[in-house]
Amino acid sequence: MLQLLFGFVFLAAVSQLVSLTGAQSECPLQLDPQRVVVRYGGSVAVNCNTSVLHKGMGWEASEGRVSMTKNQSLITWRVSNLREWDITTHCFINSNNSTQCQVDLPVTVYKTPDSVFISTVYHRGPMTEGQQYELQCDVHNVAPVQYLTVKWYKGQTLLNQTNFDDTIKTPVNKTVTLLIRPDRADDGAEYWCEAELDLGAEGPQPHPTNSAKPLNVEVYYKPKHSNSTETIIQDDKVMLDCTVKANPAPTYTWDHLKEKISSSVLKSSELSPGKYTCTATNTLGRDSKVFIVKSTGYRSTFWTVLIFFHLLVTLIIVI
Ligand SMILES: *[C@@H]1O[C@H](CO)[C@@H](O)[C@H](O)[C@H]1NC(C)=O
Ligand SMILES: *[C@@H]1O[C@H](CO)[C@@H](O)[C@H](O)[C@H]1NC(C)=O
Ligand SMILES: *[C@@H]1O[C@H](CO)[C@@H](O)[C@H](O)[C@H]1NC(C)=O
Ligand SMILES: *[C@@H]1O[C@H](CO)[C@@H](O)[C@H](O)[C@H]1NC(C)=O
Ligand SMILES: *[C@@H]1O[C@H](CO)[C@@H](O)[C@H](O)[C@H]1NC(C)=O
Ligand SMILES: *[C@@H]1O[C@H](CO)[C@@H](O)[C@H](O)[C@H]1NC(C)=O
Ligand SMILES: *[C@@H]1O[C@H](CO)[C@@H](O)[C@H](O)[C@H]1NC(C)=O
Repeated sequence: MLQLLFGFVFLAAVSQLVSLTGAQSECPLQLDPQRVVVRYGGSVAVNCNTSVLHKGMGWEASEGRVSMTKNQSLITWRVSNLREWDITTHCFINSNNSTQCQVDLPVTVYKTPDSVFISTVYHRGPMTEGQQYELQCDVHNVAPVQYLTVKWYKGQTLLNQTNFDDTIKTPVNKTVTLLIRPDRADDGAEYWCEAELDLGAEGPQPHPTNSAKPLNVEVYYKPKHSNSTETIIQDDKVMLDCTVKANPAPTYTWDHLKEKISSSVLKSSELSPGKYTCTATNTLGRDSKVFIVKSTGYRSTFWTVLIFFHLLVTLIIVI
């Protein structure tokens, strides 16, 4: 029983081996290289050789065919200006016993895009923080799309990438979109897309890439103070600084002041202790910040000493 099982396993292993090596030994031809990647309009040369004696061998191809020869063991398929997108070729040999066999050569004809262009969909001008926008990348006239990757970047950061399943070999146009929801940090950011052709190990290295001219986005956002309250000890050098980033640039107003001031900073030494509220406003909204101004410890001591001294003097005079 066990022997039978072993027998089966052995047979299975042997048939596996035969089918693996079979593919090569079946047809005594060798292609060099075994696969080619050619730019449209470019040139290509592939050798086909054999070590066996034969009744003839040749290249069958829609371009650059090599008619059957009997006295050679190495023949070359050569095309100097390849202008066919879907080209099929094979090298064949007629063996002694009059059977013919062939080895196919996979040929990939590529073309880098004429242009890669980025645009915003249904929108012009500055974007608003928190809203959603659609960016579009147009890749024109690229082949084969099966090897194309369209990548989206913000600055140097990769955001997303898309591949295509189509097996069409002629050039196509492709449009890819990206949804973004920019925030204040994205003001001035550069979005761009890139078309990359990864044609495999036989293809050009580094991979041919075409990038779109970056799209600079301007983002509108309202003022927002990081701290809504700040306590200030009066000093010549200390300012009440209400300055806050916003786009468009905010305007400033101060409450609890006799005169209207539009500056974003005030000198603490010029104010009397108390509460001051500043409001920064732009077209999208407003944000207030409260400053609590306290007199210095030094000053209060100074006044205490002065009052005490005054009392002392009064006392002496009275006496
Ligand atoms: C083809 O040529 C190469 C070297 O030029 C050789 O190593 C190889 O065995 C040849 N192939 C066949 C099938 O004769
Ligand atoms: C092969 O034979 C052809 C004629 O059939 C001849 O023109 C050619 O020069 C020969 N080539 C070689 C390498 O012997
Ligand atoms: C083909 O025939 C020749 C003799 O005519 C022989 O030398 C050669 O080995 C044969 N090749 C094969 C693949 O059988
Ligand atoms: C002809 O020869 C090839 C090897 O050259 C072999 O694989 C095939 O089985 C042979 N066919 C016949 C009918 O003998
Ligand atoms: C990336 O693109 C794919 C479509 O190619 C989409 O399904 C996916 O949601 C996108 N991811 C992000 C984070 O935008
Ligand atoms: C690609 O777009 C260009 C310009 O818009 C157009 O001329 C061309 O016909 C398009 N190609 C395909 C395959 O749709
Ligand atoms: C804001 O307040 C936090 C504590 O709430 C404090 O650590 C930080 O230094 C303050 N930032 C500024 C700019 O005053």
